[in-house]
Amino acid sequence: MGLTQTQEYYLQTMGVDVYRSRDRALDDPASNSDEVRTASVRVPETTVQESEIWRDLRQRVAKCQQCELYRERTQTVFGVGDHHADWLIIGEAPGAEEDKQGEPFVGRAGKLLNNMLFALGLQREQVFIANILKCRPPKNRDPKPEEVNACSSYLREQIDLIQPKIILAVGRIAAQNLMKTETPIGKMRGRRYQYADTGIPVVVTYHPAYLLRSPREKRKVWQDLQLAMRVYKETA
Ligand code: URA
Repeated sequence: MGLTQTQEYYLQTMGVDVYRSRDRALDDPASNSDEVRTASVRVPETTVQESEIWRDLRQRVAKCQQCELYRERTQTVFGVGDHHADWLIIGEAPGAEEDKQGEPFVGRAGKLLNNMLFALGLQREQVFIANILKCRPPKNRDPKPEEVNACSSYLREQIDLIQPKIILAVGRIAAQNLMKTETPIGKMRGRRYQYADTGIPVVVTYHPAYLLRSPREKRKVWQDLQLAMRVYKETA
């Protein structure tokens, strides 16, 4: 059925039961790990000019005071990963650990995100990971609309530079803000969207932090990841 032992292990780590013969969802060829790995590995070629554009953007983000969140941050959390990634993963905002370390998804939710990526046959280093907000909202409250607006041009610049083949929006805040909708995430799942005027497909899934609280939903996430892989293969 195309799953390696390692992938099965990671699916089980995610709490997804792997059925060998009856589960049609896991029989989907999109879960064939060998194809996934070869499809995802690209040799990055970063020109000097590109590096300067990234450095300039990083510096502008680091100094940003466009909303009130700069007052309480330890540092901005720019995003991390391959500047030529096919996969762009977008979350909500840095939490306490991310604010401390300056890197997205490094806490418990980050470990689960890594496992979700691994289930897709992807290493964390092969994708780019960013958030709707670059600064931590106090006490991890939801981002305010004015904070999202103040930060949105940075994310847009990142998307334009990376030109990913697919965006995976993790969690309600990412999904709703990227698609400019108030539709509940449960209703957004299972279909392919498009990011703004770019033609880049967007697939939505639950946030790993939500999965830590509601492990039963992991099976749905696996379905979402399979959809994302199908969409990616159509695009790539
Ligand atoms: N949750 C997010 O949405 N992003 C992070 O970087 C960490 C936790």
